[in-house]
Amino acid sequence: MIYLNNSATSYPKPRQVIDAVVDYINKPPSHGTRSGLESGAGDVIAQCREKLAKLFNTDNSDQIVFTSGSTESLNLVISGLSLKGAHVVSTVIDHNSVIRPLMAKKNAGEIEVDFVECDSKGYVEPSKIAAAVRKNTAAIVVNHCSNVTGSILDIKKIAGIAHDAGIAHNNDCVLLVDASQSAGVLPIDVADSGIDYMAFTGHKNLFGLQGSGGLYMKKPLSINPLKVGGTGTKSDVLTQPFEMPVYYEAGTRNQAGIAAINAGVGFLLETGVWNINRHKIEIVTRMIDELRDEPRIKIYTTIENNSLSNFTFNIDGMVPEEVNYILESSYDIHVRSGIHCAPLMLKYIGAHPWGTVRASPSLFTTAEETDKFISAVREIARTFPEVSI
Ligand SMILES: Cc1ncc(COP(=O)(O)O)c(C=O)c1O
Repeated sequence: MIYLNNSATSYPKPRQVIDAVVDYINKPPSHGTRSGLESGAGDVIAQCREKLAKLFNTDNSDQIVFTSGSTESLNLVISGLSLKGAHVVSTVIDHNSVIRPLMAKKNAGEIEVDFVECDSKGYVEPSKIAAAVRKNTAAIVVNHCSNVTGSILDIKKIAGIAHDAGIAHNNDCVLLVDASQSAGVLPIDVADSGIDYMAFTGHKNLFGLQGSGGLYMKKPLSINPLKVGGTGTKSDVLTQPFEMPVYYEAGTRNQAGIAAINAGVGFLLETGVWNINRHKIEIVTRMIDELRDEPRIKIYTTIENNSLSNFTFNIDGMVPEEVNYILESSYDIHVRSGIHCAPLMLKYIGAHPWGTVRASPSLFTTAEETDKFISAVREIARTFPEVSI
C-alpha cells in the first residue's frame, strides 16, 4: 500500500508517537489535576504545551489550549469573539471549518461576511483583503496554507492589515489563522507574525491522533469558552474558573491524543521542520517535473509561494473520483479526490465542479513509492479514455 494522503491525516506515525500512546494507555488512568492518582499525564499535558510554545515561538505556554482539533478551535474563536453586528473578512481558499461557522452566524443575522477571491493558483493578495475591510470589520479569518493547492498566504502582512484597521476605526480587529496545513510544515513565529488566534490540528503534520489539536491565543482569556463543565479545580465554584487553560478545557481531555502530539512535536523539533519539509518538497517537485509535460495532466501545485506538500492535479476528461478509484483499486495507491472541504475556491483555480486529485507525501514516503505513483498517473492519463465532463 502506498499512502499519499498525509494532508488529510499523517500515516505512518513516528515510532515515538506509537510508543507514547501505548505507554499512556498501559498505565492506570490519570486525571491530570483531577485525582490523587498521578501517572504522569499532568506532566505530559504541561510538556506538550511547552513543546508547542517552542514550535510556534512563544515563551508563554499558557497561550495554548487543547481542543478536539482545528474545527473546534475555529468554532471556539468564531463563537467566542463578540461578533454581533460586525463584519468578518475571510477568503475563498478557506475550509468548511471556517466557512460553515461563519455562514451559520451570517444566516442567523449576526454578522456580515465577505470571502475574498484568490488567483488561479489559490493565492490571495493581501491588498484584496485590505480592500474588503470595512469600518465594522472585527475579524479576518484566513487559511495559512491551502489544503487544495498548497498556496501560502502572507500572514504577517494580513495581521498588519487587521491591526491597522482596528486602529483606523477605533475598534478591535483580530486575525484568526487556520494553520491546519502549515503547523509542522512551515516555520510559524506567532510573536513576530502578529497572529491573534491560531487553530492547529494534531493528526496531520504534528503526527498525532485524529480528534486532537489546539488553539494559540495571543491574549489569554480574551474570548468566551465554547463549553463549560468540570475542570477538577475550584470544584465548589458554580461557574467556569476564569484561568488558563481550564477556562477552555472543560471535561476530560484527550490525554492519549495529547501524549501523541507531545511525542510528535518532540520528533518534529528533533528532526527539524525544515528537514521534514525538504523531503516532501523534493518528492512533490519530482512529481511536477515528471508529469508536467503529459498532455492530459493539469497540475494546480505551483513551485512558488507554495508549501509543496501536495501534488494536486486532474486528468482531462476524467473526474477526480475516477482517477482516485483507479489508483486505489489497480495500484494500491491512496490519495484524496474531490472538493477537499474548500468549495469556494474551485471556480477560481479552474476545478469546478469536480475538484481535484491530491497526492500528499510524508517524511516516510520513499523514492520508489514516488516513482510508482508517477508511472501509475502517467499510465492512467495515456490509457483511459477521455470523456466529456
Ligand atoms: C485547512 C483545514 N482546516 C481545517 C481542517 C479541519 O481540521 P480538524 O480535522 O483538526 O478538525 C482541515 C483538515 O482537514 C484543513 O485541512
